[in-house]
Amino acid sequence: MTATKALPVGFEVEVEVGPVAHGGHCVARHDGRVIFVRHSLPGERVRARITSDRGKAYALAEAVEVLRPSPDRVTPPCPYSGAGGCGGCDWQHADPAAVRRGKATVVREQLLRLGGLSTDQLDVLGLTENTEAEALPGGPLGWRTRVRYAVGDDGRAGFHPHRSSTVLPIDDCLLATDDIRQLGVLGRRYPDLAGIDVVSSSAGDHAVVLRPQGQAHVDVSDWPENLAVLDGGAHPAVARRGHNRVRENAAGRRWLVHADGFWQVHPAAATILSDAVIAEIDPRPGQTALDLYCGVGLFAGALGIQVGRHGKVYAVESDRAAADNARRNLRDVPAVVVSSGGVGGWLRKTQIDKLDAVVLDPPRTGAGAAVCKQLAALEPPVICYVACDPAALARDVKVLAGQGYRLTALRVFDAFPMTHHIECVATLRV
Ligand SMILES: C[S@@+](CC[C@H](N)C(=O)[O-])C[C@H]1O[C@@H](n2cnc3c(N)ncnc32)[C@H](O)[C@@H]1O
Repeated sequence: MTATKALPVGFEVEVEVGPVAHGGHCVARHDGRVIFVRHSLPGERVRARITSDRGKAYALAEAVEVLRPSPDRVTPPCPYSGAGGCGGCDWQHADPAAVRRGKATVVREQLLRLGGLSTDQLDVLGLTENTEAEALPGGPLGWRTRVRYAVGDDGRAGFHPHRSSTVLPIDDCLLATDDIRQLGVLGRRYPDLAGIDVVSSSAGDHAVVLRPQGQAHVDVSDWPENLAVLDGGAHPAVARRGHNRVRENAAGRRWLVHADGFWQVHPAAATILSDAVIAEIDPRPGQTALDLYCGVGLFAGALGIQVGRHGKVYAVESDRAAADNARRNLRDVPAVVVSSGGVGGWLRKTQIDKLDAVVLDPPRTGAGAAVCKQLAALEPPVICYVACDPAALARDVKVLAGQGYRLTALRVFDAFPMTHHIECVATLRV
């Protein structure tokens, strides 16, 4: 067998571009080597510059010239997008419907490759080769309610290019909500900061979390009064001025969230995911359910209202500040009991003897085999898995299949337009 030659960084190759792959790029081949090419589209011929070579496994590249464009190619609305540009968006150069098709393709491919499902099973679930991820209301721009800027050595805020620690200074981000764009955070210099997080909530609150380098003091005396300016990235942040929590409206309720705690970034996502989960589970009065990785209690709240005062919802969250917020958010929903701690430890200790439904919404790494097996041992008839990483979802689906659970429904949401990120709601039943 002939060894495949490594491709030096900066080397340029002409390639035919194949399907979309997980991570915001498309697959191409050159001299027997797989190359993942950013800023390209399936069916294109491009000149691609190698940005990283992973030995024998694969190389990374970005399209620097399009020799034969796809009909799905569009002019990126953002001037910072493209080769060597901002690493925040992956699909500015594609028609939004094509992006949504690509996202569904990625989920399908992960479930085939890592989840052990067959094409027939996926077709029956409605995840065919032509499926599009579901669009959220509002279009592909102006949706980002939480933005994390990095600050460069020159004190200017911006974003990292793809897989780089350098900072590309920017004047504007079209993905941010109008609210965030109008706050004026980008017009200043921040010589002592490593980063800045900006939040604009659905209830009209704003917060800025300053992430200083070391012990730096940042003068915010001339910042607008309506901004809660929080010190440091350490969680929970300490408010330097104003409150360190923002209010959010979702699923017909008001939620308190720490400014640097987890909340869905798209303003419509929390309600849509909550509704999707409830539609799948259809909880009944008096039932018992779990909301694992509950954050500030979004799904526990919806479940708790449905199961009523004679039912029970056990919600588990490891971030103490989020768990405290969940208790406070749901103090009028008597069915909900919030525990702070790890899901694995909680499942080991729980004494529940009859469980009707489980919702789990783990971080990007997924729940993992141990938690999936612990869950299955409790024998819930239905598990609704909310997933932000399709590879982790596929791995966990495979473990659950080994425990007798099969995937009976799957919805894919384009909750992060222009980026490669996705939210899925997967339902598994015995
Ligand atoms: C994707 S968020 C989901 C939050 C919530 N379901 C929502 O929709 O707002 C994942 C949550 O899991 C929490 N978490 C991470 N690892 C955990 C663990 N091992 N046990 C419990 N919670 C964990 C994080 O703090 C975070 O709040």
